Amino acid sequence: MEKQIVLLPGDGIGSEVIQSAKQVLDAITERFNHTFTYHTHDIGGVAIDQHGTPLPQDTVRACEQADAVLLGAVGGPKWDQNPSHLRPEKGLLGIRKSLGLFANLRPIKGFPQLLHSSPLKHEVVDGSDLLIVRELTGGLYFGKPSERSHDGNSVVDTLAYERSEIERIVDNAFKSAQLRRKHLTSVDKANVLESSKLWREVVEEKKADYPDVTVEHQLVDAAAMKLITAPTDFDVIVTENMFGDILSDEASVLTGSLGMLPSASLRDDGVGLYEPVHGSAPDIAGKGVANPLAMILSTAMMLRHSFHLEKEANIVEEAVQQVLQDGYHTGDLDVKNGQLVGTKEMTRRVLEHV
Ligand code: NAI
Ligand code: MG
Repeated sequence: MEKQIVLLPGDGIGSEVIQSAKQVLDAITERFNHTFTYHTHDIGGVAIDQHGTPLPQDTVRACEQADAVLLGAVGGPKWDQNPSHLRPEKGLLGIRKSLGLFANLRPIKGFPQLLHSSPLKHEVVDGSDLLIVRELTGGLYFGKPSERSHDGNSVVDTLAYERSEIERIVDNAFKSAQLRRKHLTSVDKANVLESSKLWREVVEEKKADYPDVTVEHQLVDAAAMKLITAPTDFDVIVTENMFGDILSDEASVLTGSLGMLPSASLRDDGVGLYEPVHGSAPDIAGKGVANPLAMILSTAMMLRHSFHLEKEANIVEEAVQQVLQDGYHTGDLDVKNGQLVGTKEMTRRVLEHV
């Protein structure tokens, strides 16, 4: 199989973990005779420094022509005081929007070796395995108007959705549920928000198309509570942009470390952007201690969702599992009697199993 992959290392530990991802892909191509061609481009803070914009046209064009995009992370204290159009995060929001990536998939799985890394009780976290499907290009983060009055004392943000936007994300979530344990929880705030009422209507209408999937509705505040008191009750959660942003960060404590969580941002034709959930981790950047597993697991998602290489994806995921089972861990993971290793060594251990 021949594929074009754009690499966007970004800032901080982004460039460290993207190296790990590339090495894993090289091992996969060698074993299975695929040809992956890589194109590296700038995004985020590094792009601001080099090109005066967080999202250069060149980067957008390259991503538009690619079969998939792997992104490290963006941001850092160096750019924190910049005006909003010169913020690294603008690059991230911009690339998702310009590629039309409306579905953000975040699988969250409690690895048995990492139960101690979670601040929650083992018996609560044990066995949790859920997928959050977050709408990514609509809702409060993109609705207009979003502005401040001239006197600076009134502000407005807008939570706007078209029926078609809700339909496509809900379809995506139902399909994801069909591939898993076939239970869908739709999260909204239908007791207050008009947008949530339409959201709920659409889910109810779509139910008939997926008779094998059981559906439940939860209000976002209740869901936030259940996520950490009874996480094993969930299979697939579908929700709007901001609710999904907040709930997925909350759910990340189930695994104990941001360094373990992959994500995919997709559209219907299979093109996708894959990135770890964590940020650029300026506190550990350049030290060679970053956990590369979230990035490596994101690469497995790319193999599965964009290239339909299920076997290869499974091999990468099993390699990660195996390395944890062997007791290797980076500093962000609390493992009893394990062996502490850095980014390169962790990657090498994964490669051995691939
Ligand atoms: P962060 O995710 O970068 O770091 C939070 C904490 O987790 C830090 O203590 C960090 O050392 C640790 N951590 C994160 N990933 C790790 C890994 N792979 N291995 C080991 N430890 C890891 O979030 P923070 O500190 O809030 O943000 C730092 C910068 O990253 C900011 O500029 C922020 O805007 C940006 N950011 C970017 C994101 C992205 O590119 N998708 C997402 C979140 C934040
Ligand atoms: Mg977030």
